Amino acid sequence: HLRVASSSLIPVGDPTLLLTTAGMVQFKPYFAGDTTPPSLRLTSSQKSFRTPDIDIVGDATHNTMFEMLGNFSIGDYFKEEAIAFALEFLTHNMGLPKDRLYATIYLDDDEARELWIQAGVPDERIFRFGDQDNWWGPAGLEGPCGPCSEIHYDGGAEKGCGPMLEPDALTALLREERDTGVEAVIQGCHPNCDCERFVELWNLVFMQFYQDPQRNRTPLPAPSVDTGLGLERMAAVLQGKSSVYETDLFWPIVEKACQLSGKTYGHDHETDYALRVVVEHARASSFLIGDGVVPGNEGRGYVLRRIIRRAIRYGRRLGLDQPFLAELA
Ligand code: SER
Repeated sequence: HLRVASSSLIPVGDPTLLLTTAGMVQFKPYFAGDTTPPSLRLTSSQKSFRTPDIDIVGDATHNTMFEMLGNFSIGDYFKEEAIAFALEFLTHNMGLPKDRLYATIYLDDDEARELWIQAGVPDERIFRFGDQDNWWGPAGLEGPCGPCSEIHYDGGAEKGCGPMLEPDALTALLREERDTGVEAVIQGCHPNCDCERFVELWNLVFMQFYQDPQRNRTPLPAPSVDTGLGLERMAAVLQGKSSVYETDLFWPIVEKACQLSGKTYGHDHETDYALRVVVEHARASSFLIGDGVVPGNEGRGYVLRRIIRRAIRYGRRLGLDQPFLAELA
């Protein structure tokens, strides 16, 4: 794969998108066949920002700003190689045990199920989900999209909420939900469960369609692949940490926030939550400002203003004064 530098957090030439949300954003014209890529196989580590997650930042895993590692096939390889490459990278290069890896697939994607089994992930660790979890895109009002398959890391049954659900039982529930429109009542643990057992590591998108602003889907010039692996979550798994904030990517900023506030991390839930908000938003603001965003009343300027204000609010709970954000940044 040809290494491509991260693009700016401000998307270039895409008025439908406020901020860069994924590695594929800078490659949208390649997938659509509008411009010719420098290679049919690309890879990048992309600065990404997600506004829907602002109000949940402070938990163990969500960030507004994160770095997304990805490999991309522009009409070159498809599902089989994408699955094989991801498993090889996680087990061989990163050294994760294969029996800790679970796969999710789109409700009707029998081909992906066969390929995961062929690659050595047994049926009992393959779970099907619907549009909400296993269909990706488009980014913005239009663009490529398709069914996806995610790799989740199992942190161990002791972190879970109880016995695992049988994959077939979950599939039956979700198919009924789709047919009847009545929300399924899911009892039992599974890779997308809200408990702390699983971490979603990597999303493999099998890009097949271009969705226009009227939501019409037409086939892409060629089936393609877009993957996204969160650097921060990968670091947490590799460093054996239960949150991204305890990894070496965030810990020096946490220590600085503790030093400025006189608080310690790891003793009190509310203090830890506030420290995580302050630290994440300080880092994210620095990246936004570095890419040219200025606080304002609308658009991306308003996003920056929101996270600065949220950081200040939580900072006050820690007894910090306003200049602390500049110190952390
Ligand atoms: N675009 C997909 C995502 O953001 C994979 O990179 O999850």
